[in-house]
Amino acid sequence: MKVTVTQNYDEMSKAAYKIVQEVLKCQNPILGLATGSTPLGLYALISEACKKGDLSLKHVKSVNLDEYIGLPKGHKESYRYFMDTNLFDKTDIDKSSTYVPNGNAEDMQAECDRYNSLLNRMRQSVQILGIGGNGHIGFNEPGTPFSSVTHLVDLQERTRQDNARFFNSIDEVPRQAITMGISNIMNAERIVILASGKSKAEAVRAAAIGEVSEQCPASVLQKHPDAVLIVDEAAAELL
Ligand code: PGA
Repeated sequence: MKVTVTQNYDEMSKAAYKIVQEVLKCQNPILGLATGSTPLGLYALISEACKKGDLSLKHVKSVNLDEYIGLPKGHKESYRYFMDTNLFDKTDIDKSSTYVPNGNAEDMQAECDRYNSLLNRMRQSVQILGIGGNGHIGFNEPGTPFSSVTHLVDLQERTRQDNARFFNSIDEVPRQAITMGISNIMNAERIVILASGKSKAEAVRAAAIGEVSEQCPASVLQKHPDAVLIVDEAAAELL
């Protein structure tokens, strides 16, 4: 895994944006996208460039990593809403080419299977990832098999607490999610992992130079042929 240390969050976002720009030059680009606070700077740069007419997403398809289960359609913490408001609605992307798992499907196992076959047809040209404080990628929590495909997860307490800041109270944070599996993530042609801030330093160390182990899902990325970890100085503190 290549590691790039940038001075701060803005520089991290710019470095990721350069890679996305390059990927968008390929013929039928498929962006693997993530939610969370970390990629917001990158999404702002993409939106700004589209607004100025310097970039177009007309020819782009996207697949998202994950979605909460059970939030009503249009809930402002659903990942579909996050993607629409922070990226898709600010660009010229065709919304019908943007895929996010359906967290309200009646049969969740059937939804996992549907999303998984979609991923098998749509290999990500680049997958953007954040990293959880516990080393998770997507909602693949520690202990998830590296061979996993799209599946349902019970969210760990630490993850629910990390995400509670977006809800009125921890009780409102969903207990389950649907997520791409680790093998779906590893199938991407390129992977860009972003991390910013001191609270990510331990997870970044474990991911970049720790033992490759299912106890730290992000450590699997050491085995990917084209993965770059872009971190700011605070997140790189323990490297
Ligand atoms: P964050 O989340 O970008 O909000 O820190 C990352 C993650 O949990 O994967």
